[in-house]
Amino acid sequence: MNFKEIDGTSVFYIGLNDSDRVIFDELIPLEKGTSYNSFLIKGSEKTAIIDTMYPPFSDIYLNNLDNNDIKTVDYIIANHGEQDHSGSIPYLLQKYPEAKVVTNAKCKTNLVEMLLIDETKIITVNDKEELSLGDKTLQFIMAPAVHWPDTMFCYLKEDKILFTCDFLGAHLPFDDLWAKCDDELYSMAKRYYAEIMMPFRVMCSKYIKVVRDINPNYVMPSHGPLYKNPDFILNAYADWTSDVPKNLVVMPYVSMYGSTEEMAEYVKKGLENKGIKVYAHDLIRDDLGELALQLVDCATILVGASMVLAGPHPAAISACVLVNALKPKLKFASFIGSYGWGGNLFGVLSTLFTSIKPEVIEPVQIKGKLKNDDYKKLDILINRIAEKHKSIGIN
Ligand code: FEO
Repeated sequence: MNFKEIDGTSVFYIGLNDSDRVIFDELIPLEKGTSYNSFLIKGSEKTAIIDTMYPPFSDIYLNNLDNNDIKTVDYIIANHGEQDHSGSIPYLLQKYPEAKVVTNAKCKTNLVEMLLIDETKIITVNDKEELSLGDKTLQFIMAPAVHWPDTMFCYLKEDKILFTCDFLGAHLPFDDLWAKCDDELYSMAKRYYAEIMMPFRVMCSKYIKVVRDINPNYVMPSHGPLYKNPDFILNAYADWTSDVPKNLVVMPYVSMYGSTEEMAEYVKKGLENKGIKVYAHDLIRDDLGELALQLVDCATILVGASMVLAGPHPAAISACVLVNALKPKLKFASFIGSYGWGGNLFGVLSTLFTSIKPEVIEPVQIKGKLKNDDYKKLDILINRIAEKHKSIGIN
């Protein structure tokens, strides 16, 4: 368990690593687990905790405060109501009955509804409002939709530390406090962005500017390592949130007897011969987090589906629902697939991208194995995708 002072600031890291966690939101696998970051600030007059702990670790979390002789907590700052950060507030309030929870009005509602916290224990703050801890001042910055409506940042003015909640985080446990800003962190932060922040891409773009204007010395998200050099993560977000996709195709597919996979391989080779990078993703065997990550930059999604009972394989439907929810910046979509005895492969799939509204390029459905005419249809599809990419200037 941690109780590490940050650079002589009287701010202490009191979070922990959850290296054994294998899935988040019961949806997308975690490659390496995660961390739940929590901070304690000892002001000259008041003590505050910023974000708390995922409830399964609340006992360890509270014992750590005991072991480090924390007798009084005056304020518990809730930057966001989701329970991986707010879930231990009720236990903290039992242990420190003098404490008040400080949050915004939307988060207050969530804390009352989801954690049954007594609303008389909650102090509500507005954008730019400040809270004095004596020699330290916290300023609250509302940041709705990165990623919940209740999200806010908290800025410790004297030490120039910005606590950004989930924004700019990564599902990555760490031993040293400070981000190494290496390839591993880049990849994990991108994957985290894809899963959690990409649906709010426009708002992320706005809050990158807000963070740059604040110009903090330190950025401390609520998952993953902390940043002494925020430019690393801010520059990465600027790229990921830009409106312009890259010359990439992501191709999630499910193939029952190999024909759809054969189509996918043929199209992949054809597109790569035209200089287009293709990420093929086996929907049954590959990690869904990788698919999310690949969606960040791609211009086109090409979904491959076998037929099951006269409709597309449910794994393809599920993938399209997820892609639509994640709202990548992609511009074009198409579908390929093979069937045995009949049905409609693409009728349902083509209705599922209601949020992202890509331009649909004519799909290719074949019966059984690929034959000469089928290769010609796939060649036409390959050419059309290449032309579309050229039309938006990304060839
Ligand atoms: Fe890490 Fe939105 O909670």
